[in-house]
Amino acid sequence: MLKGKKIVLGVSGGIAAYKAAALTSKLVQAGAEVKVIMTASALNFVGSTTFQALSRQPVYTDTFKEHDSTQIQHIDVADWADLFLLAPATANTIGKLANGVADDILSTTLLATEAPVYIAPAMNVHMYSHPAVINNLKQLDQWGFRFIEPGDGYLACGYVGKGRLEEPETIVSLLEQQYVQKSLLKGKKVLVTAGPTREKIDLVRYFTNPSSGKMGFALARQAKALGAEVTLIAGPVALPTPQGVHRVDVTTADEMYEQVLTYYKGSDVVIKSAAVADYRPKQVFDKKMKKSPGDYTVEMERTRDILQELGDKKEHQYLIGFAAETNDLEHYGEQKLARKNLDAIVMNNISEQGSGFNYDTNASIYLTKHGKRIQWPLMSKDDLAANILQQTSTELIGEDS
Ligand code: PMT
Repeated sequence: MLKGKKIVLGVSGGIAAYKAAALTSKLVQAGAEVKVIMTASALNFVGSTTFQALSRQPVYTDTFKEHDSTQIQHIDVADWADLFLLAPATANTIGKLANGVADDILSTTLLATEAPVYIAPAMNVHMYSHPAVINNLKQLDQWGFRFIEPGDGYLACGYVGKGRLEEPETIVSLLEQQYVQKSLLKGKKVLVTAGPTREKIDLVRYFTNPSSGKMGFALARQAKALGAEVTLIAGPVALPTPQGVHRVDVTTADEMYEQVLTYYKGSDVVIKSAAVADYRPKQVFDKKMKKSPGDYTVEMERTRDILQELGDKKEHQYLIGFAAETNDLEHYGEQKLARKNLDAIVMNNISEQGSGFNYDTNASIYLTKHGKRIQWPLMSKDDLAANILQQTSTELIGEDS
């Protein structure tokens, strides 16, 4: 899978830099073309000649030492890459990338590239668990960077724990797997809804729910990573748009209805993870209502059930619903599958601590119209999204063949 791929390997200054030499060799043996960029600190651990000999390419160590005066080298290398691999990625280089610092050849090229970037951290166990590093990794994760987790074991600093650069052959096979994965939804248009809706009572008050959009954004991010063209219709949430995803912001259930219906016809897969209001105030005041003594009753009316309508109008689309329930998940799931003419449904168990609204994790049961039933334990919303899309691609292949 790596044959002919153009890979830029960024080597930053940690003892694991010596493993990057073996990594270069393995990538070349797998058929990739490799260009290496080294930081000044990395040069303290391994010489650039080692990488030059292994890659048979010039090694980049200085922003201003141009190999070719007709080009601006960091831009040229950034554009050349099909894939950027940062291994080892030190706390310093991760911190620079997460904060937009570009003060050497590696950090400037990293900011300039549009290629997918894989980060393989390697550092002392306490550095890896420092809140600053955790925050930086979280930020990069939200922007769509991918990670090759460090392994557990003996570290050069004498500690035993997490922080060891993954072995070169494992990194190569993970990249190969990613390439297979990357095309799972290639050519497919995926429509995802995320977050809550807001239904106004007056100018300053509204009904809503605690959906953060994390589940839907994870689905959009993962669908993009699998090669799909993704449109994300988002209720009011405070999340950055995943890289390469087309985002449409809406506020009310009615606006979500309009936008979903606009994109529905052209979509291959539709995933409705939004928590849409079922009711809205019948009367909306365009000024702030003055309070007066005694109770106040708001009369509510039903919003349109978007998912039901999508099920009724379904042509070729693969339609996935979501629901958050406290009990009898399978029973309610089966009912919704049939009633709304869905292909699959993800039932979130919100009675389990850590699952559902606003958490970073979910515990779910996945049901399909063909009788498949998978129970997923509590896991990150990104992992759950990857599982859902993996299942979806399998179902799509089944339907296409
Ligand atoms: O956003 P997070 O904080 O990450 O939380 C994620 C989540 C818990 C909100 C999400 O995983 C989830 O479970 N979403 C569905 C919430 C729910 O209970 O929905 P529902 O039972 O009201 O609706 C079922 C399905 O119908 C959903 O696919 C919903 O998008 C859809 N629906 C509902 C009402 C409506 N008027 N139109 C709809 O399309």
